[in-house]
Amino acid sequence: MRSKLVAGNWKSNGNLSSNAALLQALKDKVISQNAEVIICPPAVYMVSVATDLEDSKIGVGAQNCSAYDAGAYTGEVTAEMLRDTGASAVIVGHSERRLIFSESNADIAHKVERVVGAGLKPILCIGETLEEREAGQAEAVCLSQLDYVISKVQLNDSWVIAYEPVWAIGTGKTASAADAQAMHKVLRDYLQKTCGDVAGQVKILYGGSVKPSNAKELFEQADIDGALVGGASLSAEDFVAIIDAASN
Ligand code: PGA
Repeated sequence: MRSKLVAGNWKSNGNLSSNAALLQALKDKVISQNAEVIICPPAVYMVSVATDLEDSKIGVGAQNCSAYDAGAYTGEVTAEMLRDTGASAVIVGHSERRLIFSESNADIAHKVERVVGAGLKPILCIGETLEEREAGQAEAVCLSQLDYVISKVQLNDSWVIAYEPVWAIGTGKTASAADAQAMHKVLRDYLQKTCGDVAGQVKILYGGSVKPSNAKELFEQADIDGALVGGASLSAEDFVAIIDAASN
């Protein structure tokens, strides 16, 4: 059976003192839950967050990485550097990167290749916009985003896929548990068909306004293996309630 994973995406939020307070509150409460927990701070805080969490049950991930290895790429942070500073996972292809920073499927595949090459776990985000959903294109869009990457980089059991409908991110709107499960099943069946039995080990997270009030029902679905949590990961109380829901 796949264990649950709850990943907190802090996005561009926090500072040294607010991070320390949030991490202390989490360390006090994330002690014996079964779910795996990862916090993804801004890269500049990776070292301090990883150091702070060294003796805890909580792991650390990054929100993005360079599509290149080390070299003359001003401003870029490589997957190797993220591993060196404490990351075990990297979010790739978040819809904010696709839409605000114009990342293409090709960019995303290069990044996943770097993440896997550095021995880290990719958390590959896919998801449709509201317009695409209303046009009946949700499955086709998600499958084409997924297919592009798995046709370039070989899937292995460390991969995490995050289904994040764009219209549900930061909006307070969540896909119903049944709609989310339906999409997760489509994704897993596709992975099974194209990559074989490794599909049974790949975790598929749901993301988009996950909060304590909807987490339990989402986590009860057969193909929902946890959550990628944005806003609610900035509140220790809410994030712990979501971790608890994943652990029961
Ligand atoms: P949200 O963000 O939980 O604030 O909707 C999720 C995400 O962007 O990963």
